[in-house]
Amino acid sequence: MRKKDCEEKKGMPLIGDKFPEMTVQTTHGEIKLPDKFKGQWYILFSHPADFTPVCTTEFYAFQKRYDQFRELDTELIGLSIDQVFSHLKWEEWIEEKMGEKIEFPIIADGRGKVAEKLGLIHGGEGTTTVRAVFMVDPESTIRAILYYPAELGRNMDEFIRMIKGFQKSDKEGVAIPANWPENELIEDRVIIPPANSVEAIDDRKKREEDGEIECYDWWLCHRES
Ligand code: BEZ
Repeated sequence: MRKKDCEEKKGMPLIGDKFPEMTVQTTHGEIKLPDKFKGQWYILFSHPADFTPVCTTEFYAFQKRYDQFRELDTELIGLSIDQVFSHLKWEEWIEEKMGEKIEFPIIADGRGKVAEKLGLIHGGEGTTTVRAVFMVDPESTIRAILYYPAELGRNMDEFIRMIKGFQKSDKEGVAIPANWPENELIEDRVIIPPANSVEAIDDRKKREEDGEIECYDWWLCHRES
């Protein structure tokens, strides 16, 4: 890897990193991240540009589920390399034509500084942001980063599932199976994290005997949630 590429990569946040501190211009005024949302979850999502078809369907879909996100103590904040007036005009258009008022803030990253810091610039295209999603927990730690291509709109129900999964995992110290809560093997049950000592294996076997948990083997145990 060239030295410059290496330095650029080093600057991009990863899962487990604290969300970088920054002050951003938004449709709701200046916001300090991550402080503004400290103590709650938030999803920062970028889109390529205002007034584009897939992005418009995404904003409509996010707004439709905004109450569900808030019930999960989760805030939303959009981002693109556009000016505040463009975001506002687009929001106005969405409300007029589609009947949904966008209630969450959108970052106006006109000069692309935030996008650069978060690694959101479209390789090869230069001036637009990719469809990215950062999920950040109440301690401002980045818990998930997702990237999507321009031609594919995101699935907001999956983001709701992820937030619910993270919250359950944190609260109960469990792991979440594929397609939870409709997993093909264990339905809505949750996974006991892998045992990492002989004592933990013995404990697991005992809990299985006591009927507290069920196991395919000592390394794949699950329980009711
Ligand atoms: C869209 O949102 O429709 C879109 C944005 C950028 C490139 C292609 C499609």
